Amino acid sequence: MEQAVAWEEGLITYVGPAAGLVGIDPEWFEGCTIAPGFVDCHTHLPFAGWRADEFEARLSGVSYRDLHGEGGIYRSARMLAEASDDEVLAFCRSLVQEMAEHGTTALELKTGYGLSVEAELRQARIARRLSEEAPQTCSVTLLACHAVPQGIERSDWVRIVCDELIPAAAREGLVDAVDVYVEDIAFSIEDLAEVARCASDVGLPLRCHADQLGPSGAAEAAVALGARSADHLNRVSPIGIAALGGAAETVAVLLPTSTLFLGSSPPDVGGLLEVGATVAIACDFNPGTSPVVSMPEVIATACSLYGLRPLEALAAATVNAAAALGLAGRGTLAPGRPADLVILDGDAFRMVPYRPGHNPVVRTFVDGERVGGR
Ligand code: NIG
Ligand code: FE
Repeated sequence: MEQAVAWEEGLITYVGPAAGLVGIDPEWFEGCTIAPGFVDCHTHLPFAGWRADEFEARLSGVSYRDLHGEGGIYRSARMLAEASDDEVLAFCRSLVQEMAEHGTTALELKTGYGLSVEAELRQARIARRLSEEAPQTCSVTLLACHAVPQGIERSDWVRIVCDELIPAAAREGLVDAVDVYVEDIAFSIEDLAEVARCASDVGLPLRCHADQLGPSGAAEAAVALGARSADHLNRVSPIGIAALGGAAETVAVLLPTSTLFLGSSPPDVGGLLEVGATVAIACDFNPGTSPVVSMPEVIATACSLYGLRPLEALAAATVNAAAALGLAGRGTLAPGRPADLVILDGDAFRMVPYRPGHNPVVRTFVDGERVGGR
């Protein structure tokens, strides 16, 4: 039976059998599937330039950890510093549109390539400008602790983040959340707790890059601190899984294309689902570990590499991801909700993960406006 969605002034007014539409002449998409628009709840945009040579080096045996320094996050920070605001925006604009063509209707933007107070604030301002221009809804995260700036002690940087950066970003209204990269090459659980306190002082929710390269107990720490998400989780421990299972507020954000791209082991996804964790998936779009803008590709990888079922992947890419961004109301098709939706070719959602590499998006709508598609 044909299904239909109708909306008025950006809000959904009807979801159900097309036969139930009264007084509306619908646009038909024969043989297609309607789904909520994809919510990409973890990206590292805005950045300025690629690192394909590092990808090639990794294929020859150099590790991501080895690249950290001359390459990696520090290199992206240099590239960002060397580009003008307009150059960064021009670089990112087409990528955000590419996301719209792949069905992304809401996304995260993050700092973390600034590595000084001024440069982080600049990146946050660029993110805000990008979010104003982007056809999608954007949420900006201050990844204040991503790499320890060169020439300074880790603990000194955390102090500066707490005393200067977070208050300044909050005063200017630049960000919607704060993120910390917990890893042996980055920040500790104690740093996470300190940043959590300062973020909460200014009313900003916490997120956490947790247990990506090695186990650190970051997932359970994030849950204990009431973080909105714990992301990556490749090395999450059984304690971390149990914590995420009982978490009322913390979404487990999985990033399968960065796992694929780095050749890492997948997290215990079955374990997370079994304990009832709220699981989201996202692109982790960044030039180092996941140069992927396509949520359909992420959905395909989540199914084949992580063992999610197609409809679990759909919930992970929409309603659960919206929760990680605090975008209540987005990511579901229901009367009264924003008309963020995609028309997909194929007669069932399972066609999306079944055809990796194919862009299934025929049309993308944000708040009822067409923003992408063929
Ligand atoms: O989510 N792990 C830390 N941050 C990013 C990668 C950043 C980069 O390599 O530029 C991530 O994988
Ligand atoms: Fe990330």
